[in-house]
Amino acid sequence: MSLITTPFDAQSTASEVIDGVRLDGKRAVITGATSGIGLHTALALVRAGADVTLAVRDLTAGERAAALIRESAAGQTPTDGDLAGAAGPARPADTADAAEDGVLAGAAGPARPADTADAAEDGVLAGAAGLARRADAADAASAAARVAATAQAGASSAAGAAPTSDLSDGPARVGSRAGLAGGGPGQVRVAYLDLGDRASIDAFAGSWTGPLDILVNNAGIMALPELTLTPEGWERQFAINHLGHAALTLGLQRALAAAPGARVVTVSSSAHLMSPVDFDDIHFARRPYERWTAYAQSKTAMILFTRALAKRWAADGITVNALHPGYIMTNLQRHLDDAQLRFVGATDDEGKPLEVPPGWKTQQQGAATSVLLAASPLVEGVTGRYFEDCAEAAPQLEPTTGGSGIAPYAIDETLADRLYDETLRLLSTEPPARSR
Ligand SMILES: NC(=O)c1ccc[n+]([C@@H]2O[C@H](COP(=O)([O-])OP(=O)(O)OC[C@H]3O[C@@H](n4cnc5c(N)ncnc54)[C@H](OP(=O)(O)O)[C@@H]3O)[C@@H](O)[C@H]2O)c1
Repeated sequence: MSLITTPFDAQSTASEVIDGVRLDGKRAVITGATSGIGLHTALALVRAGADVTLAVRDLTAGERAAALIRESAAGQTPTDGDLAGAAGPARPADTADAAEDGVLAGAAGPARPADTADAAEDGVLAGAAGLARRADAADAASAAARVAATAQAGASSAAGAAPTSDLSDGPARVGSRAGLAGGGPGQVRVAYLDLGDRASIDAFAGSWTGPLDILVNNAGIMALPELTLTPEGWERQFAINHLGHAALTLGLQRALAAAPGARVVTVSSSAHLMSPVDFDDIHFARRPYERWTAYAQSKTAMILFTRALAKRWAADGITVNALHPGYIMTNLQRHLDDAQLRFVGATDDEGKPLEVPPGWKTQQQGAATSVLLAASPLVEGVTGRYFEDCAEAAPQLEPTTGGSGIAPYAIDETLADRLYDETLRLLSTEPPARSR
């Protein structure tokens, strides 16, 4: 089977990808659109005329993002400072305690002191660069895996910096700017959605009326330093990144089926190359918790679920695809400490965040593959695939701990079916009574 390619590549921006495409009358939902890739994905779709709902857990940040999108889509381009305002102060570290206590920590403030786990991890990171003493193959593989994951660093918040780029992406390389060709921008609205709260997901899906053309499962959390469980007892990255989005997507099935050619786009990660889903211990009840393994597992689950849904929803005309956006400086790395950020090249020797480290993408480039899959006629009808750099990713046949391509365990139909069944089983459990 030949891989799908497009005229776009790793350097393409969201504006370039959607140039000349009109989405008037189409309705889209984007999760986690207050910052980073989601914000730029939303802007591109609005510029092209779509009515976009920003599904966010912080309504104030959502309204700020919506205002910026309206302003930018109308022709003005906010500055870096404005975009920092859109994201607002960085969110608390994403642990249950922090979330529940409302404790502001980490992101915009001084970096956390390295805890034991971080210190151990730093040693491994050093090993990956050949600086440490540990030399056996397993350690090297493990170290490389961590480097690959850490290389997704969007260091802005953890390093105390503002988001790194404004909403403009400079002159498009091809044609005119998106959305200006045939009509005006679409509408933006903001709705509450906390992917860690089942009641909120059900409320969001239940209150949706009419067809839904585009669902972008974009929100995410990464590398929580400690094992953090949801009230259901689920590991939090698996719960938010995969189960929350799965519940949302399933809840919106009828609306998606009602829209001709609806598209579901799920933002996974090349980090999936570091871990399959451990069906025997998804929530780290028996094995030691490891932050990158947990993130990787959640991202593998997102790809497997994509494949499972693509098969099951083909008859409804709904396409479902997943992607790796590239490495982009965003708020995603709020849990990385200074040493990790410096090690992966996200900050300079003085600890100052780099706007776009070598080999990384701007946020506008990071949104390009999402926008391609959400809106481009080039991929109409394509389903069940995994893209990176605006093209379908090649199977990664050799065991690897990072880089590019798709892992064999993420394209295995049996595993996709198993993950689908396990997801439905987990989601059918009654959420415990809310603690607050
Ligand atoms: N940046 C990279 O290098 C990279 C690489 C590979 C994959 N990705 C993936 O790209 C996606 C977007 O990330 P990003 O880099 O743009 O990071 P980001 O700027 O931190 O955006 C993540 C978004 O998810 C939201 N979110 C977090 N927890 C949520 C919850 N419980 N309910 C609803 N929304 C929640 C965040 O909202 P709050 O601000 O309120 O927390 C934020 O709006 C993620 O899925 C990430 O895994 C990123």
